[in-house]
Amino acid sequence: MESGNKRKRGKRGRDKNNTNNDKSSLSAVIKQMPSQADHNNNKSSSKRSKRSGGGRDSSFLDKMRAKLSGGHFRMINEKLYTCSGNEAFKYFEDDPSLFNTYHTGYQEQMSHWPEQPVNIIIKWLKGHDTSLIVADFGCGDARLAKNVKNKVFSFDLVSHDPSVIACDMSNTRLGSSSVNVAVFCLSLMGTDFPKFLQEAQRVLNPGGWLLIAEVKSRFDPNTGGADPDRFVKAVCELGFTSVSKDFSNKMFLLFYFRKEKPRLKEDIEWPKLKPCLYKRR
Ligand SMILES: C[S@@+](CC[C@H](N)C(=O)[O-])C[C@H]1O[C@@H](n2cnc3c(N)ncnc32)[C@H](O)[C@@H]1O
Repeated sequence: MESGNKRKRGKRGRDKNNTNNDKSSLSAVIKQMPSQADHNNNKSSSKRSKRSGGGRDSSFLDKMRAKLSGGHFRMINEKLYTCSGNEAFKYFEDDPSLFNTYHTGYQEQMSHWPEQPVNIIIKWLKGHDTSLIVADFGCGDARLAKNVKNKVFSFDLVSHDPSVIACDMSNTRLGSSSVNVAVFCLSLMGTDFPKFLQEAQRVLNPGGWLLIAEVKSRFDPNTGGADPDRFVKAVCELGFTSVSKDFSNKMFLLFYFRKEKPRLKEDIEWPKLKPCLYKRR
């Protein structure tokens, strides 16, 4: 009895504290499950399995794979919203394959959005001088850089593309006052997001633009989100002027600032940004 309880307690302790174990066992299960492609490649076994009702088995396995990868995506997503930028950097450094899992899930989620904020930012840049130098903070697959003529410095936690610089974006190593536009497109994920904005303030030249797109629910005070006015006030105290806001989209908000004044305060009171946790579909 005693040892049984101990065993139970031990297991509970492990489950609670060891997300890495959960992470690797989930990865292992996903990797071990045959994919639809594996199934299609093996025609003779496919014929055999059709005769024995294997068509149904493979669609069941595909559904299971999708469910497991969806769960894995949601776990990584939650991790990114609940740790610091530096912790997130180490998390992906330990297992860079998690970055692909995250981005596959993220693209799946975005495919349900009627409009993607990165396309609005691309359109905005196309309406401005191509000589503006851009820093894309949390660039993902670097779609922004691939779709404009401007010189773009793309930063993310992992680089699978030679044009992307892998770092925690609170320290980009760009020179001070070296860029004209700083972009954060759904990327204020870390709990220390003010440090990312502080870095943008450092690298922007006077008059430079700060464009922020964020998930709407993170700014809904009725559901525990931040008050957008408090957020704007805090960014202004960092040395920006609010030029415009666009709250017309159902899924995200857009903020446009310019670096036009010195930092007003050292101890800025930043509102907490609620994590954006995706629901199971
Ligand atoms: C939701 S995705 C958006 C990607 C891209 N901006 C877009 O709109 O498609 C957010 C990205 O920010 C990156 N990110 C989050 N925190 C970061 C940090 N501290 N440093 C660098 N990149 C970060 C994530 O790795 C992820 O690729």
